[in-house]
Amino acid sequence: THGKLIAILPGDGIGPEVTAEARRVLDALDLGLVFEEAPVGGAGYRASGHPLPDATLALAKRADAVLFGAVGDPEFDSLERALRPEQAILGLRKNLTTFANLRPAKMFAGLEDASTLKPEVANAIDLVIVRELNGDVYFGAKGRGTTDAGLREGHDLMRYDESEVRRIAHVGFQTAAKRRGKLCSVDKANVLETSQLWRDVVIEVAAEYPQIELTHMYVDNAAMQLVRNPGAFDTIVTGNLFGDILSDQASMCVGSIGMLPSASLDAHGKGLYEPIHGSAPDIAGQGKANPCAAILSAAMMLRHSLDASDAADRIEAAVSAALATGARTPDLGGTATTRAMGDAVLAAL
Ligand code: NAD
Ligand code: IPM
Ligand code: MN
Repeated sequence: THGKLIAILPGDGIGPEVTAEARRVLDALDLGLVFEEAPVGGAGYRASGHPLPDATLALAKRADAVLFGAVGDPEFDSLERALRPEQAILGLRKNLTTFANLRPAKMFAGLEDASTLKPEVANAIDLVIVRELNGDVYFGAKGRGTTDAGLREGHDLMRYDESEVRRIAHVGFQTAAKRRGKLCSVDKANVLETSQLWRDVVIEVAAEYPQIELTHMYVDNAAMQLVRNPGAFDTIVTGNLFGDILSDQASMCVGSIGMLPSASLDAHGKGLYEPIHGSAPDIAGQGKANPCAAILSAAMMLRHSLDASDAADRIEAAVSAALATGARTPDLGGTATTRAMGDAVLAAL
């Protein structure tokens, strides 16, 4: 890890608060990492008139890995879409070709009371959502927009081609192979053409992974099964939009959206690491944000981009140990501040 360059893009709202804690944890490990910070999202817009300033994108490309906070600010919600903070994260994912977004949801011991599920249901959760991140209705450009010929219309295009499905399917099977060998592909093939293509291609790719048990599930059922019996899921592979929604749901099953980290990976191990949550304007600046998702994202960065899985294990164990001491931010039912939670993780380290 010595001399590796980490781009830190704190962003808006609670983004700077939680990335600061992740940075403190990385510093404490003394890995010789080099950090460079740059503004992104609303902060990027304020600094240079664009949510993803050229210099920020250049830094992200140059860096060995990117640690991202969150973007979004109600102040900018009425800007033209291309200038809104959210475009920064979409632009980064697209420009870095980080098409595979791993969102693990695991129950930490002691958080049963924070989950809205029954303890015995929540305790069984250990799953990962492999979310496709460069396609789907997020990026279908053709025909996108609004028209107004007396009746206002909005259009978005849901679109996948087979190469996009194939590459994320491979990540799904390979992720399952490192886990319990079960892959559930989530789609809406009973209604959508994109989903039928998705399912057909996933089945083709399955031929290369005879050891993996593949199942298919419609997304509405998946949403239901996630709260009925989430312990039955091992690896879920799904498209951009379904993965976005199901991962927020999975996060609450394990206690809080403030607990879910993610890794967005390209084909070569370069990655962008981000909590799944947003900028949380409702609690920004109050020291209430749970930094665990950001800290755990830093652990994923060490594991997936920096070949430092020992250090990653140490961070994850420290988060676990900190929670075991009873340290909890308000989202988990506690009173610890963001900084105090970071302190608890550092103490456990
Ligand atoms: P959000 O995830 O920001 O917040 C949803 C709820 O969860 C809020 O009540 C918030 O207080 C709470 N929450 C989120 N993270 C938390 C944490 N770490 N600790 C404790 N509580 C936490 O979603 P939203 O309110 O729908 O969106 C707010 C803004 O964030 C919007 O501008 C949205 O576009 C943006 N957003 C950005 C990202 C990203 O940057 N990756 C992700 C999601 C939403
Ligand atoms: C996420 C967010 C983003 C997404 C938004 C802010 C563009 O919700 O990272 O989950 O939809 O991917
Ligand atoms: Mn989301």
